[in-house]
Amino acid sequence: MNHVLNIDLGHHQYPIQVGEYFDFSLVSDRLQGRKVLLVSNDCVAPLYLAQVKAALSNNEVHVCVVQDGENHKNVKSWQMILNAAAQCGLTRTDVMVALGGGVVCDMTGFAAASWMRGVDFIQVPTTLLSQIDASVGGKTGVNHSKGKNLIGAFHQPLAVIINTQTLDTLPEREFNAGIGEAVKYAGINQASFADWLVDQQQAIRSKSPEVLTSLITQCCQFKVDVVEQDEKEQGVRALLNLGHTFGHALETATAYQGYLHGEAVALGMVMAAELSHRLGHCDASVRKTLEKLLQGFDLPIKLSKGLSPEQLVALMRLDKKVQSGKHRLILMKGMGQAFVADGVAEADMLAAIEACV
Ligand SMILES: NC(=O)c1ccc[n+]([C@@H]2O[C@H](COP(=O)([O-])OP(=O)(O)OC[C@H]3O[C@@H](n4cnc5c(N)ncnc54)[C@H](O)[C@@H]3O)[C@@H](O)[C@H]2O)c1
Ligand SMILES: [Zn+2]
Repeated sequence: MNHVLNIDLGHHQYPIQVGEYFDFSLVSDRLQGRKVLLVSNDCVAPLYLAQVKAALSNNEVHVCVVQDGENHKNVKSWQMILNAAAQCGLTRTDVMVALGGGVVCDMTGFAAASWMRGVDFIQVPTTLLSQIDASVGGKTGVNHSKGKNLIGAFHQPLAVIINTQTLDTLPEREFNAGIGEAVKYAGINQASFADWLVDQQQAIRSKSPEVLTSLITQCCQFKVDVVEQDEKEQGVRALLNLGHTFGHALETATAYQGYLHGEAVALGMVMAAELSHRLGHCDASVRKTLEKLLQGFDLPIKLSKGLSPEQLVALMRLDKKVQSGKHRLILMKGMGQAFVADGVAEADMLAAIEACV
């Protein structure tokens, strides 16, 4: 059975469908008579492109397959998508469809935002991370050599169509990394969701279809609630960065080879909880609860050997949110009680990281 959530941003509403098929019936009226540029990558296309093409058999479908990987999330791949759009004569009234993980979804969304100043697009996310996070909320973009996601636009999709069966082929490590972002919602404002994740751990790990549907639907709803309040990240949306400032430093320090994004966020949340405790915002149990939860999904909770806490703090200094040596971080007053903390001192950050070695 399909579960449908609606996201209402005032100026734009669209459905997020969670089911077990590539089922476009929800948007069949909107797709009628429109040409489709279907974008995927060379990992996902062999697995699912034929099924998605079949599901879109009432449309004229053109295909663009880019290379797999975060290192191909760049202007070159974006241009490839635009070239494919030009080649097939995609007009202002046609549609792009993204089939893949967060990388394909972000890039296709940005191509859709820029082609003819904006055409419609549909997200068909195929990783857990993209199903519960990246495909919701309208942030699109590509990386610049100076940093991640530096080039982009806000562009909301026509619909998000999630087929949970795609998770059967996702490598376990990628699946668990997605759980890192799910735990983030528990940390931000959904304390009881942490208990649910503990209760359902085995069922999630064995990919029970009902439990996966419930997991994804809940997480999408959590993100929808935040994005509906603050689409352009001027306030509460910043809380979605829980664990991310530490996490980005971990990713940069290891040149994106050491941790998957969700793994870096997991460890980053442990550091944020430790720092929150040190600054007197919460008790030590918050870190313990997080660690237990993350360990249940084989996510990292300790800094790998060879990474220096000083180097991580130096990398965090380069973050946009630093003002005269004082940092803005998302900290926690308890599980499910994240808040924006201004003026955090580097010495405290360093001590917190050292306590996670
Ligand atoms: N827009 C947003 O709000 C937002 C939020 C979070 C993350 N992101 C972005 O998302 C990206 C990370 O997304 P990701 O974790 O999905 O990574 P990804 O897109 O690189 O996918 C991970 C790997 O799994 C493969 N894959 C995808 N689906 C598969 C399937 N069903 N079976 C087998 N293999 C499959 C991919 O080809 C890739 O090799 C980052 O670029 C990040 O910046 C965006
Ligand atoms: Zn993230």
